[in-house]
Amino acid sequence: MPKITVINTETDETKTFKAGYGANLRQAAHYHDVQIYKGMARMLNCRGMGACGTCMIEVEPMDNVDPHTFMERLHKVGPNQKLGCRAKVYGDITIKAAFKDL
Ligand code: FES
Repeated sequence: MPKITVINTETDETKTFKAGYGANLRQAAHYHDVQIYKGMARMLNCRGMGACGTCMIEVEPMDNVDPHTFMERLHKVGPNQKLGCRAKVYGDITIKAAFKDL
């Protein structure tokens, strides 16, 4: 099972949890009660539809997540960034989250 370490850039908290191979990052974080949103985006987000971009995360290493999707290219995510709701996890990763508010 991949180990996911989440560094929340808003609170400086670090939490670690495990998720199934190929798990959706947003759903896994939500299941483990780990926050990936910042500020008002906690309540006002698109609920994983890939439309709002507030679930943006920085991922290390990118080899352990799936390639960028069409919606991520629309949001012009950087080479080490993913949308949390579009990230499938295939190995141990460390992410920085909660750095994009509305
Ligand atoms: S939750 Fe809106 S883009 Fe991911």
